[in-house]
Amino acid sequence: MSTHQNAAAPVSKLGYVEFTTPDPERLVDYYRTVLGFHVEESSPEEAYLTTDFDHHSVVIRKGGAAARSTVGYQVAGSLDDAHKRLAGAGYEVSRRSDIAPSTPDVLVLAEPGSGVPLHLYDTQSTSANTIPGPAHRPTKLGHVAAFVPSLDEIQGFYQDLLGFRWSDTIGDFFVFLRCNADHHAANFMASHKYQGMHHIAYEMRDPNHLIAMLDHLAKHDYRLHWGPGRHGAGHNLFTYHRDPDGHVIELFTQLDVVHDEAKGYWEPRPWHEEYPMYPKTWQVDLAAVNHWGPIDPPSLDH
Ligand SMILES: [Fe+2]
Repeated sequence: MSTHQNAAAPVSKLGYVEFTTPDPERLVDYYRTVLGFHVEESSPEEAYLTTDFDHHSVVIRKGGAAARSTVGYQVAGSLDDAHKRLAGAGYEVSRRSDIAPSTPDVLVLAEPGSGVPLHLYDTQSTSANTIPGPAHRPTKLGHVAAFVPSLDEIQGFYQDLLGFRWSDTIGDFFVFLRCNADHHAANFMASHKYQGMHHIAYEMRDPNHLIAMLDHLAKHDYRLHWGPGRHGAGHNLFTYHRDPDGHVIELFTQLDVVHDEAKGYWEPRPWHEEYPMYPKTWQVDLAAVNHWGPIDPPSLDH
């Protein structure tokens, strides 16, 4: 365990992301029919959806169109300790039992810079979902990327207080942070122009699983606007399309993983530029953004 984790509330998993939408029925239908999620609970006002045995990994709520309106992270340690550390660092933290029946004990605090509510919990009840679901269903919620005013501030918070580790930075504006073996669960782009979500990403099992999903998307008239390609940072094979509310959805596979935090390099892969491949700061070019080309300029607009 790194010193960061010892000093912090050790987040170990991205648990769920919430979207608000003027048309919950349309968005739930997209998640259920197109992405193959299981709807665990739903009402006209809110829906809880999952890819696996967790009660939910996506929450859809009626409201103005906003992605990443809340993010939930699971902590590996004690919630009491997390509460003390965050409150001790000066954050206003409330402890709630009414967030959802599946998460009876949740710390709520505002993410610095964005003000987005973060939920920290240690247990989430399991779903009635039967695994496997539809063959094209993603394996899990992978990561969420968002605009923030300052990388220094957000890295200080996520690394020093939530126990995330630095994975890569592109230029001086796009940082990737991990909370477990996966290269990133959180991704932040510095911007004074934009706020809100940049994209959200779901993991596919392997390239064939991703291809099966792309065929399924096409049958439902969802077309890619970027990819397939291979990112440099994270080295994941990626595709991007938009959900019915216009939010960018990434489907990816073959993301870098670190099995040994003490050694700190990514498990070697034939597409790596260096052996061993360590976290690094990348130039803003094809090597960092898309090995296969081209760069999608709007994806770097900040
Ligand atoms: Fe991504």
